Amino acid sequence: MTNLKPVMGWNTWNTFGDKINEELIMQAADAMAESGLKDAGYDHIIIDDCWSIKGRDKNGKLVADPEKFPHGMKYLADYIHSKGLKFGMYSCSGTLTCALYPGSYGHEYIDAKTFAEWEVDYLKYDYCMQLGCAEGELLFRRMGLALANCGRDIQFAACTWGKHETPKWIGSTGANTWRSTGDISDSWESLKKLIQLQYEILPYGGQGCFNDMDMLIVGMCGKGNVALSGCSWDEYKLHFAAWCLLQSPLIIGCDIRDMSPETKEILMNKDLISILQDERCNKPYIIKCVNFDDTPIIIRALGNGDIAVGLFNLKDDAFNMWLPLDDIGIPYLQGKTVEGKDVYTGEDVYVLSETIFKRVEAHSCAVYRLKIVDIK
Ligand code: GLA
Repeated sequence: MTNLKPVMGWNTWNTFGDKINEELIMQAADAMAESGLKDAGYDHIIIDDCWSIKGRDKNGKLVADPEKFPHGMKYLADYIHSKGLKFGMYSCSGTLTCALYPGSYGHEYIDAKTFAEWEVDYLKYDYCMQLGCAEGELLFRRMGLALANCGRDIQFAACTWGKHETPKWIGSTGANTWRSTGDISDSWESLKKLIQLQYEILPYGGQGCFNDMDMLIVGMCGKGNVALSGCSWDEYKLHFAAWCLLQSPLIIGCDIRDMSPETKEILMNKDLISILQDERCNKPYIIKCVNFDDTPIIIRALGNGDIAVGLFNLKDDAFNMWLPLDDIGIPYLQGKTVEGKDVYTGEDVYVLSETIFKRVEAHSCAVYRLKIVDIK
């Protein structure tokens, strides 16, 4: 059965780029199983671009680079599965991948079969190097069908960066997720841009095909393949909370073999993960207050009747944020209010007036999980 909730895992690209090999993947699997990540819900180990040789074999099959992966991919799959984890791989809908390794264009069925033979569970499928007239729509439908007929249940993760009106057709391809943005980099500017890009496309995500905001940069701290300036811990916290509230897959990008205590605390925040993985999968929405581009309030109604509220301050200085309860369907004048907790500080919250108010520091957020209660 394919995953009906946003996928959680780790991918090689953000930190390691083309510097990947068997030992790294096995160590990452060990780290996922033993560091608490698996218990927190992360269960996919995903190899991104640069894993193959630059040609195909005489039967037209993809070949793992024997220097990087001396025992081949099935060996890695067995190791990852032995840890109770799932194995993800990467290919591209064009003739070449984005890093110029062989793509699956014209080889979709044989590649899907190869991935099935290797016992792959998840395929990230990229959007580079298509022939001039090839339609993304057709190429993703073709791979979707190839995967559906390969004899193994392989999740299909489309990486089209939202191009060519992806949301209009991606749901018809069998993809479980669609990448809605260009690539993330480890910087505040990148985070802010990716969050703001979501405002117009929120209705197009959700169960069936989640809107993937790209892999996490939490804990990269300016090191690795997509590193720029790095971010502050408040910025990483805001990043993680936004991805959880906006229902994005959580694909970790830092080196999970060597996570700082701060990184672990953010990535394994139980309350945020339970909001992300809420059984009802209701879509998030945004309350547009004054200057909303820089101060979005993201809301999700949860399956047990609770409500998740995230106040995000993307501005460069502190901001007083206000949310009238009535604006999210809680009629204070009819005797209703909310109580619950701040998911980062653990502080209890009880709202004593008709408005949630919080002064939120620059580049920070406050996120609450709240119950609707009668005014005491
Ligand atoms: C594209 C994708 C990235 C990564 C690289 C690999 O840029 O968007 O996530 O997979 O290709 O080359």
